[in-house]
Amino acid sequence: MINQAEKIIEVKNVKKIYRMGQEKIYAVDDVSFDIYKGEFCCLLGTSGSGKSTLLNLMAGIEKISGGQIIIKGKKIHKMNENNLAKFRQRYLGFVFQSYNLIGSMTALENVEFPLIFKRVKAKQRRKMARDMLKQVGLEARLNHKPKEMSGGQQQRVGIARAFVASPEIVFADEPTGNLDTKTTMDVMKLIRTMAKQHSQTIVMVTHDRRLADFADRIIHILDGKIQEIEVREVADSQEEPVSSDVISISDNVEISDITGIPDIAAAEEEGKQTKKQETSEQEISERAEADEAIPQRNTEIKTNNKNQNNRGKEG
Ligand SMILES: Nc1ncnc2c1ncn2[C@@H]1O[C@H](COP(=O)(O)OP(=O)(O)OP(=O)(O)O)[C@@H](O)[C@H]1O
Ligand SMILES: [Mg+2]
Repeated sequence: MINQAEKIIEVKNVKKIYRMGQEKIYAVDDVSFDIYKGEFCCLLGTSGSGKSTLLNLMAGIEKISGGQIIIKGKKIHKMNENNLAKFRQRYLGFVFQSYNLIGSMTALENVEFPLIFKRVKAKQRRKMARDMLKQVGLEARLNHKPKEMSGGQQQRVGIARAFVASPEIVFADEPTGNLDTKTTMDVMKLIRTMAKQHSQTIVMVTHDRRLADFADRIIHILDGKIQEIEVREVADSQEEPVSSDVISISDNVEISDITGIPDIAAAEEEGKQTKKQETSEQEISERAEADEAIPQRNTEIKTNNKNQNNRGKEG
């Protein structure tokens, strides 16, 4: 099923050590594995086991303390910020628990956003974004801004945005964390189906075994180490057909997307509002360009994630 000859991500002896005063925390402790093109791979483990840290290292969002991360033959840990940002825009998509939607944009505009950077024409962009939102069950919320949607709806907009430009690799950290059971299962099926149709590689983090069961391979993580790698045969019934006119980008489209740069929301001014219902393309482009120019804010992202996680643990 998965062509194991074609490695798309290589993780070699990767470590992440956090220093807290005198104490060293080995969040990721000498981990090695490969991810193959087109596979759906899941990092499964309990809270605090190091899943998010490992995902963030793989996505180049956090710096490794040791080892190597190679994606598509490129040593991403050796890239400078600029090249890394371009690489991410070109090949990677992200779904984060904290959504990172742009508050002043509608659901439709948020999903269109990565397509602007792929120079997809306005009409097609809008159609693709609309189709994508329809697929995640949000056709009735196209013109709602994030504030005007529930957490689960915002999460689905985030998923639509991550997939709309068909990035080669999608990193997803608890992508259904705020959805009810039925929606979770629907969204998982959708993610799997879309990924398989476009030969996308998915790396998903979860603590939930039922969600891990959607994956081709499960990497069990405990205390920053790999406990076991489980290869699975996923039944066809877990894949559902998706209409073929959805998310089709022509080959000559220029690649340079900004799909999941995870500091978009953090970068945005809180409370910024536009009075107009419909935002002009010019405005979208301007905002998008402004956002693209904003440097990465990794610490903030981490902090946001931690806060969420911690809230989860306490609650
Ligand atoms: N910035 C940081 N500074 C210090 N320690 C950290 C930092 N980030 C994570 N850790 C620690 O590293 C370990 C792994 O954290 P990580 O967020 O990767 O866990 P996780 O498996 O994603 O957990 P959860 O399921 O709760 O999200 C934890 O013990 C955590 O406390
Ligand atoms: Mg986590």
